[in-house]
Amino acid sequence: MDSSYRCRFVVLFAVHLCFLALSAQCRPFEYSKLSRYLVVSQISASPSPAPEAAAASHPPSPQVSVFSVVSYGAVGDGVADDTPAFKAAWDAACQADDPAVLLVPRHYTFMIQSTIFTGPCTSRLAFQIEGSIVPPDGPDSWPKNYSKRQWLVFYRINGMSMQGGGVIDGRGEKWWDLPCKPHRGINGTTPPGPCDSPVAIRFFWSSNVTVQGLKIKNSPQFHFRFDSCHDVHIDSLYIKSPAGSPNTDGIHVENSNDVRIYNSVISNGDDCVSIGAGTYNVDIRNITCGPSHGISIGSLGIKNSRACVSNITVTDSVIKHSDNGVRIKTWQGGFGSVSKVTFKNIIVDTVRNPIIIDQYYCSNKACPNQTSAVYVTDISYTNIKGTYDVRSPAMHLACSDTVPCTNLTLYDVELFPAQGQKILDPFCWNAYGDIKTLTVPPVFCLMEGFPLSLPDNDVDKC
Ligand SMILES: *[C@@H]1O[C@H](CO)[C@@H](O)[C@H](O)[C@H]1NC(C)=O
Ligand SMILES: *[C@@H]1O[C@H](CO)[C@@H](O)[C@H](O)[C@H]1NC(C)=O
Ligand SMILES: *[C@@H]1O[C@H](CO)[C@@H](O)[C@H](O)[C@H]1NC(C)=O
Ligand SMILES: *[C@@H]1O[C@H](CO)[C@@H](O)[C@H](O)[C@H]1NC(C)=O
Ligand SMILES: *[C@@H]1O[C@H](CO)[C@@H](O)[C@H](O)[C@H]1NC(C)=O
Ligand SMILES: *[C@@H]1O[C@H](CO)[C@@H](O)[C@H](O)[C@H]1NC(C)=O
Ligand SMILES: *[C@@H]1O[C@H](CO)[C@@H](O)[C@H](O)[C@H]1NC(C)=O
Repeated sequence: MDSSYRCRFVVLFAVHLCFLALSAQCRPFEYSKLSRYLVVSQISASPSPAPEAAAASHPPSPQVSVFSVVSYGAVGDGVADDTPAFKAAWDAACQADDPAVLLVPRHYTFMIQSTIFTGPCTSRLAFQIEGSIVPPDGPDSWPKNYSKRQWLVFYRINGMSMQGGGVIDGRGEKWWDLPCKPHRGINGTTPPGPCDSPVAIRFFWSSNVTVQGLKIKNSPQFHFRFDSCHDVHIDSLYIKSPAGSPNTDGIHVENSNDVRIYNSVISNGDDCVSIGAGTYNVDIRNITCGPSHGISIGSLGIKNSRACVSNITVTDSVIKHSDNGVRIKTWQGGFGSVSKVTFKNIIVDTVRNPIIIDQYYCSNKACPNQTSAVYVTDISYTNIKGTYDVRSPAMHLACSDTVPCTNLTLYDVELFPAQGQKILDPFCWNAYGDIKTLTVPPVFCLMEGFPLSLPDNDVDKC
């Protein structure tokens, strides 16, 4: 049966059932809604069973309108520019007064240019991705007048769910190979010059956003970036890029609060999750991370900036074959604080720096010493176990010369060399805190209690 017929049949059948049953759910049914639903469905050639199947197997819910990008002219051959169709479908779905589904159907590959999907929407919107979405292939195919810093942007959205079993492929290879990328220059140097590469998916100024179930791979730069958002729920993502791909952070969160990141599997060439300035109340749970650079707070305080980060929890996670496990990194010269951070129940497997605080972060090896620093305090490490790559010590707590770290607590930390018997002593510099239980390896370098003169209490100013 032709899929549009099948679709129409399912809808008509469902509507009939609905009228017959005269259920409470059907009573507010209006003819205008019916006609719109039928129009939308009739012109949809979607072979995807997702929303239609839901409509068929449950009591029909005429309040949900489905806007398939194919109905708006998307071709889905991976070559044609489907941007106008996505924008038209977005405009319609976003302005619908009912819960709406913007459907990216299965079995198609849609090519879309850098696009900003703008809200606020009147509808509660589900962006349902069942097919594949790709950008133009590399910098040479990127239109000159489009931003090279972002690909798909969601701006001022309140109450959207992005979900589905589809794949977002950022086609990053040609961007990673740009000669300006870190270590791509002669003899491993980084030549100067503009090197913008697009973040695959950005949410900006949005709230009550859910992203779940998607696979996203090979982003030119960060895979997800959330700026100035709150109430964000991320669940069951699968993020994958090669270990050598530069700056391909999995999920970056900045200036945002009340963010939950759960049940996701991330491997890439940079941090699995990175937390930037202005972020608080983040709960990260059940992440399998690696190969990667670990889960990071920072880098913070770049160019003498103020950074405030607090109440971050990372629990029940595995980090493997990575440069770092759980990391806090700040530039010299910053202000503000990182406080109330809990790392708990973390398994590390062959990780170079399982526990690391680096207040001397410097990407170009030529940073002058400075006296101010982002103050690091109230950080707890509980039940961190596994193996470390013996090229560096299992614990590296390098705090600022002038602004010590305080109240670092270690509880049930057991880290063994991944190869051989050689044990490097943990490294501490200007780090204060408490060892609650004996650790493996033992830590003798952490100073007890608090420094005689505490730094200006920047926590309160944050
Ligand atoms: C870029 O140029 C194309 C062709 O001139 C135009 O259709 C498009 O709207 C422009 N896009 C932006 C973001 O300015
Ligand atoms: C958040 O969005 C969901 C649907 O996406 C909606 O049911 C819920 O009411 C929204 N909550 C708030 C506080 O806006
Ligand atoms: C690169 O390194 C090689 C071997 O160390 C050296 O002979 C060569 O001069 C270097 N090239 C440049 C441009 O520095
Ligand atoms: C942890 O996440 C993985 C990957 O999404 C999932 O398969 C597993 O069920 C999750 N575990 C728990 C306890 O939720
Ligand atoms: C810390 O963040 C969690 C969410 O991750 C939130 O439930 C809790 O209320 C926050 N605590 C404080 C003191 O704000
Ligand atoms: C910065 O300080 C460190 C430790 O005090 C010292 O080893 C290093 O040489 C200094 N760097 C510069 C550029 O002054
Ligand atoms: C030290 O940090 C822990 C949380 O890691 C907190 O519960 C405790 O109150 C802090 N102690 C002091 C003296 O600030």
